[in-house]
Amino acid sequence: MIRQAGAKQPVWDLPTRLVHWTLAALIAFSWWSAEYRHTGWHIWSGCAILTLLIFRLLWGFAGSSTARFANFVRGPRAIADYWRGTWTGIGHNPLGALSVLALLAVTAVQVGLGVIAQDEDGIFMGPLAQLVSSDTSDKARDIHELWFYVLLGFIALHLAAVAFYRVVRGKRLIVPMVTGRTPLDPGVQPMRRGKWWAALLCLAVALGITRWVIAGAPPFGP
Ligand code: HEM
Repeated sequence: MIRQAGAKQPVWDLPTRLVHWTLAALIAFSWWSAEYRHTGWHIWSGCAILTLLIFRLLWGFAGSSTARFANFVRGPRAIADYWRGTWTGIGHNPLGALSVLALLAVTAVQVGLGVIAQDEDGIFMGPLAQLVSSDTSDKARDIHELWFYVLLGFIALHLAAVAFYRVVRGKRLIVPMVTGRTPLDPGVQPMRRGKWWAALLCLAVALGITRWVIAGAPPFGP
């Protein structure tokens, strides 16, 4: 296919963008609901984040080319190439990929601690708190509160990196994360789209697992 120089090409698919901005909004909402003691809403928000994380994990194997982990999680050689300025490609660069993984992992730990935590009065409990002792639930809550600062640190680093690319490298990253499109250098292959039915399947599995967690992870079988 002949591409016009400077013409915008797809770089992020709709599911990846929806997950990104919903995740950012829900993390903000989770902070607000915890701060103002809307604990019920806080737990629902955490469960919604769990769905997003499971979906993003599955989409990392079944999604568009730029969403797939295999295409952006690279070894030290690719990182060195990127450092030397000889890396070409679209989507996450090999160094940025590390921060993507870290953000997803740190958020997953936060959710994991939340699902087994209970509040100080033992009134509100994460859906899996019954599976651990009351002591462990209390400890999980304490670490959940502290871990939020780790998450905040990674979010700050993420925003600093986005600002660095804009100011120092002159690269606009936010607009493509909103519209899904960006101008590509000549010779760079545009994104290969994922299948819409694969996205629906990933969503169904993510919702199913979240529902099972909300039910207290009952054993399967009769
Ligand atoms: C709670 C806050 C946030 C979290 C947890 C978060 C997390 C992430 C993750 C996991 C990705 C990788 C996307 C994927 O492949 O799924 C990403 C990419 C990105 N995020 Fe965020 N994000 C947050 C807030 C923001 C905000 C507020 C902005 C803009 C001001 C932003 C701008 C971007 C951009 C531009 C990318 C693409 C980076 C690239 O081109 O490689 N993010 N973010």
